[in-house]
Amino acid sequence: MSIRAGDLRIDYSKQMMDEIAIARLLDLASARSTASAFARMANGERINFTEGRAVGHMALRTPRGEQFLIDGVDVIPAVWSVLDQMANLAQAIRAGEFVGSTGRKIRNVVNIGIGGSDLGPAMVYEALRGNRSPDISCRFVSNVDPADLEANLAGLDPAETLFIVASKTFTTVETLANARAAREWLSGQLGESAVENHFVALSTNAQAVLEFGIHTKNMFEFWDWVGGRFSVSSAIGLSVMIAVGPEIFFEFLGGMHAMDVHAAQAKGRANAPLMLALINIWNTAALKTSSRAVIPYSFDLRRFPAYLQQLIMESNGKSTRSDGTQVPYVTSPVIWGEPGTNGQHAFMQLLHQGTDVVPVDFIGFARSSADDSYRNELLFTNLLAQSRALAFGRSFDELPDSPARPHRVFEGNRPSTTIVAPELSAAVLGQLIALYEHSTFFEGVIWDINSFDQWGVELGKELALTIGSTLADFSTHDHPELDSSTHTLLSWFAEHHQNNNQ
Ligand code: F6P
Repeated sequence: MSIRAGDLRIDYSKQMMDEIAIARLLDLASARSTASAFARMANGERINFTEGRAVGHMALRTPRGEQFLIDGVDVIPAVWSVLDQMANLAQAIRAGEFVGSTGRKIRNVVNIGIGGSDLGPAMVYEALRGNRSPDISCRFVSNVDPADLEANLAGLDPAETLFIVASKTFTTVETLANARAAREWLSGQLGESAVENHFVALSTNAQAVLEFGIHTKNMFEFWDWVGGRFSVSSAIGLSVMIAVGPEIFFEFLGGMHAMDVHAAQAKGRANAPLMLALINIWNTAALKTSSRAVIPYSFDLRRFPAYLQQLIMESNGKSTRSDGTQVPYVTSPVIWGEPGTNGQHAFMQLLHQGTDVVPVDFIGFARSSADDSYRNELLFTNLLAQSRALAFGRSFDELPDSPARPHRVFEGNRPSTTIVAPELSAAVLGQLIALYEHSTFFEGVIWDINSFDQWGVELGKELALTIGSTLADFSTHDHPELDSSTHTLLSWFAEHHQNNNQ
């Protein structure tokens, strides 16, 4: 019960599955034609059927010279033209050839984006800490709370700062509001003409980028066939490329591509993302678990659970099948997690002895980017201790007689998967991300839902606009269209907000 995929070793022997369950799950996968569904994605078919789009994130890491057809057009030349454009800028910044408006070297990069335009690069930037240039630091601003931008601009010299406005659509309210505020901060100190040297955009929407005031020569393009949560290998990775350099970034893409090839070619139970998907389906459907923890025993991977929350929950938090009917089964569990060993001193108590069973993905490495053999050993052995305690527990009979005896019983049989690799290199990180991307895809195919749209976030966006316009005339007009709870809370806000602004 373990699989090798690239540099990853995936041990699922601590799951609550036997050979019969595995055989039935593999039957389910072939009944749902997972392999041909994957081939349809790789062939550029419009499998995002509610938006009529192809799903082409694998093209973003396809080697130069190979083909990836979308609507009959090979997109690889366009993909590599943007990667080359990114590499040119990254190299020029790192070499001090691309400078700010006053001629000073760029030392700070501020990525302004949200969702997939933030979580991917922010996570990878932290994960590749060992590969980063010490001369350039990146910061990531996503929250429309002004505190986020303010905190991240603290201490920065605008003359040495490059802003990357990252937005697939370039219509996302939070990102545009933050980008405008950043622009005011910069032009207030360096003048309006400095904007050209200090702002670049990553987007599919050239028109909106131009309207914002960023010249299209400073825009790095991607395409509507790249979903936001699958976009870290697109131009959205620019901040990472600047920080680690093009060579390491290409190793990262190489790792993703290796997993793409594995997912396409490995058969049945040798296919790591397929098995990860089947294990998850087993846990939700048979064991009735409703959440899943991802616990990396790696400080550098501490943003990985947040990244996976968007990847998995925005993809598979759905309940309508391809024919428009409601699913009669459970789909995605809640994904959450924090790095170990910190979690052991916080939430692991519930995982060991709580009334809910929470399957865990443990992720660990033989070597850490920080060189201290003793603490690295402590880290990894703690991971093993946790998965062992969850699986095997401790029975009443093993315990000495004392009043605490029943409280010290661990029932065990709590499932986990352990994913290990020699170290968190750029290639390994790429493999790990693509592993989860493809397992998310296989889950969606088996559940017969569209993993590539996100209609669930639309209603909240619409209502935020409506409530925003209501606030403008709240003191002078009645708003009977609002429910009483929202009305009361808005009235409270209007009163306190006004006091605050006086
Ligand atoms: O939350 C919805 C969403 O559309 C995500 O899917 C996306 O990653 C995020 O907003 C940001 O979108 P954009 O890159 O277009 O600003």
